[in-house]
Amino acid sequence: MPGLMHDPWFAGEIIAAVAPQLPGFGVEVVAEIDSTNTELMRRARQGVTAPVLLVTERQTAGRGRLGRPWESAQQASQPASLTFSLGLPLAPKDWSGLSLAVGLSVAESLDPTASAGVRLKWPNDLWVHDRKLAGILIETAVPQGEAAQRYAVIGIGVNLGPREAEGLRTPPAWVQEWRPDATPGAVLRELVPPLVATVQAFAMTGFAPFAERFAARDALRGREVQLSDGTEGRCEGVGWGGELRVHTPAGMQTITSSEVSVRPVRMPL
Ligand code: BTN
Repeated sequence: MPGLMHDPWFAGEIIAAVAPQLPGFGVEVVAEIDSTNTELMRRARQGVTAPVLLVTERQTAGRGRLGRPWESAQQASQPASLTFSLGLPLAPKDWSGLSLAVGLSVAESLDPTASAGVRLKWPNDLWVHDRKLAGILIETAVPQGEAAQRYAVIGIGVNLGPREAEGLRTPPAWVQEWRPDATPGAVLRELVPPLVATVQAFAMTGFAPFAERFAARDALRGREVQLSDGTEGRCEGVGWGGELRVHTPAGMQTITSSEVSVRPVRMPL
């Protein structure tokens, strides 16, 4: 009896919530894969561009931004990270700020009242008191013969349970700090429907309607920051197009490239 089948990832519920807005949407759960982003990009290059959520318990070659690896945390009984990618055809007029809108959606789902202190660190990270809770990697493929539309692969990794800081650039935070009972499936069910709605809204409007809510959770605004080229300045927040504004001795710099890394000058220990 399908209705009584155990579904720890709530795939049926997620499909029921998302498919009316995104026809053809499916959910795939695999025990192990190199990287959910790599797999959806591979498929897109082969012309497979159906909307899909690909979830895995373990990545053997998870990828982060700037060519860095993304290592999931493991506990004995269950994965201590939630790792998934959402793939869908998308044609916004302007792509800038998509990762910020995605981060905002995830932050608001994980911490609706902001009482746990989940904030957004431009351009792609979720932080809790300067510790990294989650990362986002967005990639796009142009399917053959469809120049007007790209296939977007939105990869998200969230720390759910405790993990060691060793080897990480930023010390980790995890969801079970404020929700001890959080399981990968329950968190996935909460994140995905609002995430799809956010991405679809972004495709219509761009980043501007999200800017105020982003500002309310901006982890860098008002702080001294250093850019990857060594420039230092005071972060003035994010503009209507998702660009980071930094007031430097040479004047206001606006940073649009996610290839630039930016960190607060003084991070707490
Ligand atoms: C970063 O922090 O630099 C981004 C991390 C993104 C990790 C997620 S986990 C699911 C998806 N598959 C990957 O290989 N990367 C993303």
